[in-house]
Amino acid sequence: MADDKIIDGKLIAETMKKEIAAEVAEMIDKGIGAPHLAAVLVGDDEASLTYVTSKEKACHKVGMISSVYKLSSNATEEEVLNIIDFLNKDDEIDGYIVQLPLPEHINETKVIQSINPNKDVDGFTLCNIGLMQLGEPCYHPATPFGIKELLKRSGVEIAGKHVVVIGRSNIVGTPISVMLSRKGTDATVTICHSKTQNLKELTVQADILIVAVGQVEFVKADMVKEGAVVIDVGIHRIKDNSEKGYHIVGDVDFKEVYKKASKITPVPGGVGPMTIVSLLYNTLKAAKSNKK
Ligand code: GUN
Repeated sequence: MADDKIIDGKLIAETMKKEIAAEVAEMIDKGIGAPHLAAVLVGDDEASLTYVTSKEKACHKVGMISSVYKLSSNATEEEVLNIIDFLNKDDEIDGYIVQLPLPEHINETKVIQSINPNKDVDGFTLCNIGLMQLGEPCYHPATPFGIKELLKRSGVEIAGKHVVVIGRSNIVGTPISVMLSRKGTDATVTICHSKTQNLKELTVQADILIVAVGQVEFVKADMVKEGAVVIDVGIHRIKDNSEKGYHIVGDVDFKEVYKKASKITPVPGGVGPMTIVSLLYNTLKAAKSNKK
């Protein structure tokens, strides 16, 4: 029997993929063509390569076109900016991402802010960040968008609830805090970080606790209110003696916290699968507006 305490990100992501695939099939049937997502990958960071490969596979699964622009780790900033310029102008490309991190000699801000906001399916440009802050239509960054969908599709009430977010990164903590507090979603949000004093006093007040702190099993049961909804954004590989040689854990001590939570995301299989599907969602949205 399904455990209704567990927020099954894998299942919700599969449902969303089916919805997206149906819309892609309709676009192809109508002769509009399939949405096209491109990725720019600079260097040979293993995690980045894994992410980009997963994004490509996911695109193909829903009938989208994907292309990857690979540059070596000693590519110049100018070379990266030339590709951005090409992607901005090429009508065949509906949306694209520049996989982060970039090598240190390349100015990340300059590169990201050169992306055409209409193709910025990561939602990282100032234009999309500003529109998000205003609560206007825009591309939302993938992980926060995925978290919001998980909450909505699991029937978690957000309006008027106290959401405590641990972590203030540009990719997760800050945007999820903004998104959930906008009109229409209406949460009361507290954002905590490494300099927060009395962290536990705040986290025990959370109706919804979102943990994006990047530390292995950081959140323990005594930091969580009885009946809270707990969303774990962390992904850590822990070496072990299994066949694979490792297992995956999150930022939350799942075994302990499960007992107190009313709902909780597992790691793996919680937030992770939602991130890629959210990127597909944004690509579909871009294609709908670009191919009209
Ligand atoms: N690196 C880690 N997460 C992300 C992401 O969501 N988008 C991009 N472009 N790079 C990342």
